[in-house]
Amino acid sequence: MRIAIIGAFGQLGSDLVPRLGNQAIPIGHADVEITDPASIANALDNARPTHVINCAAYNLVDQAEEEPQACHRVNSLGPRNLAEWCHNHGVVLMQISTDYVFGVDSTRRTPLVETDSTGSVSVYGQSKCAAELAVRSLCQQHFIVRTCGLYGHHAARGKGNFVETMLRLGQTRPELRIVDDQRCTPTSTVDLARALVALIKTDAFGVYHATNSGDCSWFEFAREIFHRRKISVKVVPVTAAEYGAKAIRPDYSVLDCSKLKTVLGWSMPSWQDAVSHYLGGRLEWLCGVSAGWNAAESFQTRDNFATIA
Ligand SMILES: NC(=O)c1ccc[n+]([C@@H]2O[C@H](COP(=O)([O-])OP(=O)(O)OC[C@H]3O[C@@H](n4cnc5c(N)ncnc54)[C@H](OP(=O)(O)O)[C@@H]3O)[C@@H](O)[C@H]2O)c1
Repeated sequence: MRIAIIGAFGQLGSDLVPRLGNQAIPIGHADVEITDPASIANALDNARPTHVINCAAYNLVDQAEEEPQACHRVNSLGPRNLAEWCHNHGVVLMQISTDYVFGVDSTRRTPLVETDSTGSVSVYGQSKCAAELAVRSLCQQHFIVRTCGLYGHHAARGKGNFVETMLRLGQTRPELRIVDDQRCTPTSTVDLARALVALIKTDAFGVYHATNSGDCSWFEFAREIFHRRKISVKVVPVTAAEYGAKAIRPDYSVLDCSKLKTVLGWSMPSWQDAVSHYLGGRLEWLCGVSAGWNAAESFQTRDNFATIA
């Protein structure tokens, strides 16, 4: 297997590449612009992958409300271009998607399965819905894997993630207001990468849900992080309406991962174990990459971050 990872140096890609070892063909943003079919051909024609995993995305959920075209170009047109290339070359495509493809049904309070109707409440979610449709329509040999609230060590020195933001703010602010009426399952990129690598080695194509097990609100997730790191900051639960983020997020987007479990024979660890593992390995990881890293480097807000005040 020769597996091209698009978005190889992002949060998820950075954990996928080492797991695939010499089967990985890492392709970063400097190597390919997925909105441009010629750039895709240039990057992939010579690489001759048997499989492509697309981790590249526009993830700035709130900013997407202000620049929907930019978001749709990367998240909808990009996967469409990749699906065409993969189909034309007989290559399997794995597209990473999100729980934010759901949310229109605001009464839902039971875990969502792959066959539930999608319907998003944000530009970002709509762009990812469009990607799913393009991949399904254009490339027969595909996996679409929906996941949620990703955090991986790579983000500690890049764009940040919810855990890193909590660790930073928990030590610099006296009080944090965190959304408590949205439930989902934050997921470690290490655990997700393990599941994706196992799944892509099968030919059980289709749509999958892949998250850590269990569910929580962002408030509960933050409390767990502070508890494990013994950070004593006052955490106040607020509603999403009180917080007033630009993009609307689903009230409930817990994903049922039974289908993945049936195919793999195992499920991903609980979200509590996953975050404990992340925090345990964090210092070691930061020390390993700290040479030349400026701790004050810029922090960008993305994906679920608008849950923090
Ligand atoms: N983050 C989450 O909480 C979350 C939740 C659910 C689902 N997901 C999905 O999971 C996947 C991986 O997310 P992630 O957190 O690993 O994202 P990430 O850290 O932002 O990585 C995305 C990578 O894609 C690259 N990229 C962006 N635009 C590109 C383009 N037009 N052409 C080529 N490369 C491009 C980025 O490069 P530059 O940084 O250089 O632009 C970056 O390295 C995405 O599909 C995302 O939608 C994420």
